This record gives sequence, structure tokens and C-alpha cells, in this order.
Amino acid sequence: MTIAQAVQVVAEALAEAGIAEARREAEVLVAAALRVERAYLIAHAEQTLATEQLQRVRGWARRRAAREPLPYITHRVWFYGLELCVGRGALIPRPETELLVERFLSWARQQTFKEAPILIDAGTGTGAIAIACLTRAPQWLGVGIDRSHAALRIAAHNRRQLGLEPRLLLMQGDWLRGIRPHSAHAILANPPYVLPDEWDSLAPEIRRYEPREALLVPAEDPLQPYRTIALAALQVLCPPGLLAVETSPRLALTLAEALQRWGYPNPHLEQDYSGHLRVVWATIP
Ligand SMILES: C[S@@+](CC[C@H](N)C(=O)[O-])C[C@H]1O[C@@H](n2cnc3c(N)ncnc32)[C@H](O)[C@@H]1O
Repeated sequence: MTIAQAVQVVAEALAEAGIAEARREAEVLVAAALRVERAYLIAHAEQTLATEQLQRVRGWARRRAAREPLPYITHRVWFYGLELCVGRGALIPRPETELLVERFLSWARQQTFKEAPILIDAGTGTGAIAIACLTRAPQWLGVGIDRSHAALRIAAHNRRQLGLEPRLLLMQGDWLRGIRPHSAHAILANPPYVLPDEWDSLAPEIRRYEPREALLVPAEDPLQPYRTIALAALQVLCPPGLLAVETSPRLALTLAEALQRWGYPNPHLEQDYSGHLRVVWATIP
């Protein structure tokens, strides 16, 4: 079978499985299975696949047709212009989370520090937020915290791949518990924020494959992760420290009001690329 035929067969199988961008995904899948860039597929459309390549393409196509997310199959995901590794133990970084990175970078550009400033990425997952921030803010150091060992293993791999071992500390922990007072200058977090009544409407890729504990919050107290992080951050941050969190459009306004009650005088809300309220941020007085 040639590359062009393989792309066509995979695209048909994915379309049959109800995958919206079947052709694009087929190209990404075949390119990753052949360990080449997508452009290679066009330039070498008539190349015949080796038996081993064909087996990999078939196996991966079956997994994708069963709605396993493509990044879990290829172990590759792009975030803020960086190629990261991802696997079943960690949430797949989303484009809207890049807003947190943008918020951090535009705030950080306006600050001056006598010593290397420190950011904390609470609930770091693949390390995406911390890694993107540190890559663009070379004077900063970072700490990525997660309670999941599996996620931390993936974050450590990404840290090594991007040469950030000297600048990014990864640790297992429960949000900011045990972090020294006045030890950080920015705290960023994308905690779980999916409500149980939203679960059934999520795509099968998310429901069946992504870690539940990275996504779901209890219906009776959906702000619980934010409250824990925000109250601890009041102690951990050095003024005028930044707290920036991602949230859902459903929780954003309630969260901004709550932040005021918890001691943040002037919370700001930001929309994502689809116009949904997505980021809430504030600096401590
Ligand atoms: C929505 S995911 C975000 C992952 C990553 N920051 C990103 O944006 O792609 C939430 C992360 O918080 C972690 N987490 C959940 N509860 C936690 C807790 N109590 N302490 C530390 N991390 C926690 C999960 O393991 C998961 O990696």
C-alpha cells in the first residue's frame, strides 16, 4: 500500500467512526506512524509502506476509530509552539490554556526583580504551562506540582526534552500545601472544573480516555480547588504576585466574585478564542 492509499483508507475509517476532521487526522496519524512530517506525505505519496509501518498505521487507526485521542496514540501534542510528549496519565494540553501563558508573560514583562523570580504551576499535568512560560521568560525559575505520579513522569520527560532540568523543579503535592510563605512571584493553575452534569455531554475521547481526576469537580463545591489554591497563594506569593487560573464559562463570574471575598481586590476576566470567559487573574495587594 502507498502512503496516499494509506491516508485515504485511514481517513475513510475515521470518517465512519464519526471523527469530524478525518482527513487531517489521517494525515497526522500516518505521518506520526512513519515518523515523518506531514509535508513528507505529499512529496512521497507513491512510496510503499514497509510491513512494520503498515501494521503500525492499522493499529493506530483502529485505536483512533475507537475514539482514543490522537495525542495519546502518537504521544505528541503542540502547546504554545512547543512539541510536548503526552500519555494516558496526563490531561492533553488544550489551546485555550495558552491564554494563561499569555497572561503570565504580559504581566511578567512589566515586573522587575532583584533575583530570579519563581512561578508555580499548580496541577502541572504534562508541565505544559510551566514549560511554555519558562521557555519564553528566561530569567524565571519554575515549580510544577501535581498529585499524580503518572503526570509527573510525563512532565519530567518534557522538562528533559526542552532542556529545562536546571530551571524547573517538579514535585508531588496537594496544590500549594507545604510551600514556603513568600517564596513565589506567580502562581498559575488549570485545575479540574468540569461539573458532573456536564460529563455526559463531553466527547467520548475525553470521557473514556482522559484522567477523570484531572477534570471533574464535586457538584456541591465546584470552587473547592480554586479556594484551596487562592487562599494558600495569599501566603505563598510575594507582593505584587500574580494568581492566574483557567476556568469554565459557567464558573468564571462566581469565581471572580469569590476571589474578591478571599482577599484579591481586583480580579480580571478574560475570554478565550471562542469568546467564552476562560481566565480569571488577580494580583495580591
Ligand atoms: C485540568 S488538569 C491540567 C493539567 C495541565 N496543567 C494543563 O493545563 O494541561 C488538572 C491537573 O491538576 C492535577 N490535580 C488535581 N487535583 C490536585 C491536587 N489536589 N493537587 C495537585 N494537583 C492536582 C491533576 O492531576 C491534573 O494534572
